Amino acid sequence: MRYHQLGSIPAKRHVQVRANGAGSPLLVEEVLGYEGFSGNETILYHLHSPCRLDQVGAFRPIVREEWVPDAHVHRLADANPLPAGGDPVSGRRLMMFNNDIEAWVCKPTEAMDGYYRNGEGDEVVYVHRGRGVLRTVFGRVEFRERDYVVIPRGTTHQFELPEGEEQFWLVFHTPGEIETPNRYRNRYGQLLEHAPFSQRDFHAPAELETYDESGSYEVTVRVRDGLQTYVLDRHPFDVVGWDGYVWPYTFNADDFEPRAGRFHLPPPAHQTFQGPNFVICTFAPRMLDWDPQAVTLPYHHSNIQSEEVMFYAAGDYAARKGVDVGCMTLHPSGLPHGPQPGAVEKALGATSTNELAVMWDTFRPLRLTTLWRDVDKPEYAYSWNPDKSGAIPSGNGASPEAAAVTTSD
Ligand SMILES: [Fe+2]
Repeated sequence: MRYHQLGSIPAKRHVQVRANGAGSPLLVEEVLGYEGFSGNETILYHLHSPCRLDQVGAFRPIVREEWVPDAHVHRLADANPLPAGGDPVSGRRLMMFNNDIEAWVCKPTEAMDGYYRNGEGDEVVYVHRGRGVLRTVFGRVEFRERDYVVIPRGTTHQFELPEGEEQFWLVFHTPGEIETPNRYRNRYGQLLEHAPFSQRDFHAPAELETYDESGSYEVTVRVRDGLQTYVLDRHPFDVVGWDGYVWPYTFNADDFEPRAGRFHLPPPAHQTFQGPNFVICTFAPRMLDWDPQAVTLPYHHSNIQSEEVMFYAAGDYAARKGVDVGCMTLHPSGLPHGPQPGAVEKALGATSTNELAVMWDTFRPLRLTTLWRDVDKPEYAYSWNPDKSGAIPSGNGASPEAAAVTTSD
């Protein structure tokens, strides 16, 4: 991320600086950084020590209810019927995981009582439905539908949600770093001209919240594969200024500038973020391949070394058997997959697609949970065989209509 500053900071680091002039206490300088002191970092100026505790609360291990299917097949799950509930942290329900990434579904209906900080990983919240404000120690970050909200580890925060509005999020956790892809950046870190987004599309905290308040503030910190609670007697948002390269931000999927070619472009053209052993991609509405002989849908592909999960976020998925907005497919390693029968013929000559899909590909196998089992659609495995699955709908009209073309495979 680029350099950013909010609030007031002294001209130099490691110097005496006081909140209210001579006689007032020194500010507490805190560096928050990656890779020891060699990675990106931000320096924050607190009114009080961020180490100060009133009480140490309970530790609760994270429990993952793994579901080991009895067959290795392509899978479809419908996340729409999953019940809403809980707050933005307690309402998270795990769909899949490995050592590199976890994917949770969250449909919060309650406000957060306290504050949360991930102390062992970065998080990305994809806002399928909803909006609100992410209140953080770095300031306020407004978010809206189709935003990726990227929250670096170490960010104490609280979600503020409008009352009575539907929220439906995907939450990703990784012990690694969430970054824009290396190949989009120059040697100084700036995004290159050919990247599908620019620095202007990344929205930093806009307004600092500084409280010099005493009280009782519960902070839950994800550490050591569990949730540790603490009670502070000072408000955790006591920062008067900060600067650096680490801060939460939003990037809206509608700001992804899609690439297209005379012939089909492969999935890396849609890449949005990278992490260790995984990528996150955005399949955005776009013009399709324009050569008269072009096959506009992807070829069949064998994921011999990756797992592909696609979340169908918006668009018309009439062309895909059993798939609707809010569903996700898992095309695991070891099996070929591709367009369903009839879809390729139907899409010939189409000029655009209105699909919006979020894909995460992992290079190591994913493990599913009982939550996936509860909404699993086992018939999907047969959806490439019209003899087994009945007539496969392949578009909602006789002519290749843009609205029926989905390239997200
Ligand atoms: Fe695929």
